[in-house]
Amino acid sequence: LPLDELNRLPADLFAAHFAGVLEHSPHYAAQVAGGRPYASAEDLAAAFAHAARLGTPDERVALIRAHPDLAGKAALTGDLTPESAQEQARAGLDRLSPDEYAEFQALNDAYHRTFGLPYVVCVREHDKASIFEGARRRLHHTPEQEVEAALHEIGRIARLRALDLIAPPLSPAP
Ligand code: GUN
Repeated sequence: LPLDELNRLPADLFAAHFAGVLEHSPHYAAQVAGGRPYASAEDLAAAFAHAARLGTPDERVALIRAHPDLAGKAALTGDLTPESAQEQARAGLDRLSPDEYAEFQALNDAYHRTFGLPYVVCVREHDKASIFEGARRRLHHTPEQEVEAALHEIGRIARLRALDLIAPPLSPAP
C-alpha cells in the first residue's frame, strides 16, 4: 500500500500489514501504528528500528532471541518465517557446502555460548563471506557491544522489510 493509505489505515490493519517486520514480534507494529502519520517511507521504516531500542533490557534481549540461527535447525526443518527464509536464501545460506555448514554451526554455537544470543546480521546487506567474517569478528565483542550490534542489525533488517511493504507513490500524471 502507498504511504498515504498506510497513514489512514485502521490501526489493527496497519499492525497486521507490518506484523512480520520485527521477527516473531508483531506487537511492535501496533506501537509504530501509534506514531502515525509518517512523512516518508523512510520515516515509517525508521520507526521500527527506533521501537526495537525502546524496550526494557529484557524486551531487547527477547527481541534478539526471537531470531532463528542463520542456517540453523529452523532453516533445516522449514520452520523459518517467510521473510527470514527469503533473506537467508538470497545470501546463499540455504545451500552451504558441508564444510561451510559445519563451520557456520561452530560459529553459531560459539556465539550462543559467549553471549546467550543468536548471531543476528542484516543478511540482505551482506554476502556469505561477510556474514561468516562478521560472526568471527563479533565473537571478540563485549556482551554490551553485542546487544548494541544486534539491535543495529535488527533495525537494518526491519528497515528493508518495512520498505518492501510500502508501495512507491504514484508518479503525477504528465
Ligand atoms: N538476519 C536477517 N534475518 C535473520 C534471521 O532470521 N536470523 C538471524 N539470526 N539473522 C537474520
